[in-house]
Amino acid sequence: MATSSSGPLTPRTAGEVLARSREFFEAKGVDSPRLEAELLVGHAIGLDRLGLYMAMDRPLEKDELTTARELVSRRAKGEPTAYLLGYREFYGRRFQVGPGVLIPRPDTELLVDRARAIAKELEPPKVKTPFVAGISDQPEQADERRITACDLGTGSGCIAITVTLEVPLVRMLAIDISKDALEVARTNAEELKVPKARLGFKEGDGLEVLAAAAPHGVDLLLSNPPYVDPKDHVHLETAVRRYEPDTALFAPQGDPDFWARSLMERRGQLLTLRGRALVELGFDQAPRLLQLAARMAVEVHIHTDLSGIPRLLEFGR
Ligand SMILES: C[S@@+](CC[C@H](N)C(=O)[O-])C[C@H]1O[C@@H](n2cnc3c(N)ncnc32)[C@H](O)[C@@H]1O
Repeated sequence: MATSSSGPLTPRTAGEVLARSREFFEAKGVDSPRLEAELLVGHAIGLDRLGLYMAMDRPLEKDELTTARELVSRRAKGEPTAYLLGYREFYGRRFQVGPGVLIPRPDTELLVDRARAIAKELEPPKVKTPFVAGISDQPEQADERRITACDLGTGSGCIAITVTLEVPLVRMLAIDISKDALEVARTNAEELKVPKARLGFKEGDGLEVLAAAAPHGVDLLLSNPPYVDPKDHVHLETAVRRYEPDTALFAPQGDPDFWARSLMERRGQLLTLRGRALVELGFDQAPRLLQLAARMAVEVHIHTDLSGIPRLLEFGR
């Protein structure tokens, strides 16, 4: 191999840097070493994965090499790739993320799928009055078809924004107790061009803010609340434990069922007559919540994710 001023082993093309990074991740036990290396090296030189494949022989500039090395080294020490890149894909869209905001998980796409299905069922079969082009947005006509929704604990806004964009009749309120999270969610809404009139944000405790903002309840109550038992923190992946915010992960009062139970208890106040609630669950919550629902005489459905985990609790008023 030709030598260079910085030594014979210094990789110089994108392909060489990629191969070295992948080997380094393999040695460090990083999951999906190839994918992670492609994302980070591509990011360092401003290319997506396809672009990177087309540029394998491209020599790297010195600053690109420095950036790639730093990103790879930080990832190997445990920092999540999404924070290093500054974004994560969710439901086919790119959401900005950063420290202080939970990284959207693919499991949560199930909640969006189900929200879309419910929204279809909630819609009246067709407009009751004949559709007149140009005036169908008049408030009295729009109101009867609108679907009011709330995303409690919005984080990056991935649920609220996706459902608002996917279901044009939805008017969404996104709540979070974290100012940092709300800032990111607002930025994401702007970047993804969500009409301002269809998505609002409020800071504060979810239950209080929602009860005050929607005294007659909402049609769709969506939440991926913090549900990790604080006692289980040692079992979390290092990247999660060390980098993602405690407020987003750990259940209040040391009780993983706190949010699901509170929302079930207050369903009469928080949901409209036709309203449905969807609450994401941790892997072991479903059996306890089924027992609780039976005691409370609440009819619930549990939806299973692609890994076979009972992931989503659904109930009505
Ligand atoms: C598990 S994260 C979910 C974030 C996002 N919805 C998602 O699915 O990626 C839970 C979110 O709830 C917020 N949160 C925690 N306690 C809250 C409370 N009492 N009221 C409102 N939001 C709360 C956290 O700040 C965090 O953003």
